[in-house]
Amino acid sequence: MRKDLVIPNHIGIIMDGNGRWAKQRGQIRSMGHRAGVDNFKKLMKYMSEVGVKFVSMYIFSTENFKRDKKEVDFLMDLFVKMFTDEFDEIMKANARVVFSGRKEPLPAKVLEAMKKAEESSKNNTGPVLNFCINYGGQWEIVDTTRKLCEKYKNGEISLNDITPEFIQKNLYQDLPPLDFVIRTSGEQRISNFMLYQSSYAEYYFPETYFPDFGPEEFDKAIEEYNNRDRRFGGIKK
Ligand code: FPP
Repeated sequence: MRKDLVIPNHIGIIMDGNGRWAKQRGQIRSMGHRAGVDNFKKLMKYMSEVGVKFVSMYIFSTENFKRDKKEVDFLMDLFVKMFTDEFDEIMKANARVVFSGRKEPLPAKVLEAMKKAEESSKNNTGPVLNFCINYGGQWEIVDTTRKLCEKYKNGEISLNDITPEFIQKNLYQDLPPLDFVIRTSGEQRISNFMLYQSSYAEYYFPETYFPDFGPEEFDKAIEEYNNRDRRFGGIKK
């Protein structure tokens, strides 16, 4: 990574293209997911080394439950593996793991593995790694609204407490806004990913499938980010 480049404070990654990566090689989709996990480990290590502070990974949307049961089951097992047997990779990167999303209908074994991952990494001082699992941006806004209505009803907050910053703080996780969102595989859509947090994010859509999006591709992405002119609605001076 070039020393003169600014690294975005909070990076979102929509890991897409695992299935196509496998198909291109005449393999079944699950091989693509496995390759995606292997790449994620490499990328995580690299992001930690270069000093990324916050990363949000979109690993399973609420809508992904519509997939074939076999593929969903495979992914659930992969999550368990990632957050238990293969968790030392994340520990080595000194990452603190948190999760965003709805619990229902995630299987108990996944919820348990998530809890363990959060617990064992809570004192790590490297990047905060927010896994969006069974996550939908619209549901996040609904769940937050319900939580705040409840607080209002109980007299814990007043209407004037509710500001854009206050809502941001009360989402599934209290994280800074997204600066940069990368969606691999050439698809140019956001698919319900962190709608509230991405109001002024820059987007980047490389053609590369996620299993091939390694450190070199990441460097290219950061270079691209540094060429953007972020004005947050203001006027160029
Ligand atoms: C997108 O590719 C990938 C997913 C919907 C699932 C990704 C999740 C994992 C690989 C499991 C665990 C990951 C981590 C980092 C803990 P796709 O299947 O939509 O690909 P396609 O668009 O080419 O079909």
